[in-house]
Amino acid sequence: MTSIERLPAAPAVADLAALHALLRDAVEGGASVGYVLPLPETEVAAFWRGVLASIAAGSRVLLVAREADGRIVGTVQIEFAQRPNGRHRAEVQKLLVLRTHRGRGLGFTLMGAVEEIAREARRTLLFLDTSCNGNALGLYERCGYTRAGGIPRYAADPDGSLHDNVIFYKEIPGTPAAPPP
Ligand SMILES: CC(C)(COP(=O)(O)OP(=O)(O)OC[C@H]1O[C@@H](n2cnc3c(N)ncnc32)[C@H](O)[C@@H]1OP(=O)(O)O)[C@@H](O)C(=O)NCCC(=O)NCCS
Repeated sequence: MTSIERLPAAPAVADLAALHALLRDAVEGGASVGYVLPLPETEVAAFWRGVLASIAAGSRVLLVAREADGRIVGTVQIEFAQRPNGRHRAEVQKLLVLRTHRGRGLGFTLMGAVEEIAREARRTLLFLDTSCNGNALGLYERCGYTRAGGIPRYAADPDGSLHDNVIFYKEIPGTPAAPPP
């Protein structure tokens, strides 16, 4: 059984190590998620430090998929736009599932859970971008996201080759969070 939970800004040491391993596993598997190879541990640590700081600041939620034995095997994040004109908007980021655990529906389940967080926060517009040659395109379409377009040669794969990105969005029914007074 795998459960989805929200991680706090100060996670357990073992959980933080699992998050490090998830990012490294994705990059070493060729996923374009912001990093290239070789991937120094200092960059991995700096990435997760930044994530935890923004959870503490309240601008981000980090979800993880945890197996019955306590091990984290997947994750996704939602970052709430902070500008006054974007309080209805949020970006879905870093959907990662360990290569050993893919193809079992964890990605789909994490995307459903992150949508629930958006709904609770009254964020009615979700968006994300992904590599045109990544393995998440079908999943996002299956989750109801619409392709909005893409930018040529947007990012480098872990091996350094440039590729286009694909931008997706999804509108969530509900009353959007109001701009500040
Ligand atoms: C994208 C990713 C999160 C999907 O995770 P997942 O748990 O395998 O997702 P699911 O099982 O819900 O669905 C995966 C898809 O692969 C298919 N699949 C079947 N067997 C599979 C396997 N052994 N390995 C991978 N995918 C498999 C599923 O049927 C599904 O098909 P679809 O894309 O046509 O809908 C995962 O592949 C990953 O971490 N990729 C690297 C990081 C990345 O690119 N993230 C997205 C960044 S924007």
